[in-house]
Amino acid sequence: MIEYKESEFLVETEVPEDELIISRTDLNGKITYANETFCDISGYHEDELLGKDHSIVRHPDMPSAAFEDLWSTIKAGKQWIGIVKNLRKDRGFYWVEAIVSGVYKKGELVEYKSLRTPISYVTKLKYQRLYDKMRAENNERTRKVIYE
Ligand SMILES: Cc1cc2nc3c(=O)[nH]c(=O)nc-3n(C[C@H](O)[C@H](O)[C@H](O)COP(=O)(O)O)c2cc1C
Repeated sequence: MIEYKESEFLVETEVPEDELIISRTDLNGKITYANETFCDISGYHEDELLGKDHSIVRHPDMPSAAFEDLWSTIKAGKQWIGIVKNLRKDRGFYWVEAIVSGVYKKGELVEYKSLRTPISYVTKLKYQRLYDKMRAENNERTRKVIYE
């Protein structure tokens, strides 16, 4: 059990309806491209993202099973669609629906890409509860907020 102060992790950044958060990675998950919206929403400068593992924006509320599913799906050449809570540089968070798939050149898999759009409040609530349950069931870290 890790304890967080009330002020940590609680500030949400809303993803605008009319913008796409786009990134690409190499085949090992290192970021090769991040669009301006990705930088704005995650709070990082482009230079801080390029070459880093995409887990740089991993939020501790995400169960590892979600990413195991993502990687096995895309490695099988299929498209993964999932709901992801991401961590900002300032430790705030943002929720997205992500569509992750391969980038092919002349039929050969060269990179992966992800396009992300906003989700509704009801969906965020549903997935927060689901992911809390999944982490608890797998003995992954759970969250306790301390009110000071
Ligand atoms: C194209 C692409 C986009 C990804 N986007 C995210 C993302 O937005 N947030 C995230 O936590 N992981 C994302 N991942 C998964 C990460 O590579 C990583 O598996 C995940 O953060 C878990 O990392 P960890 O097992 O090192 O903790 C993405 C992977 C790929 C291939």
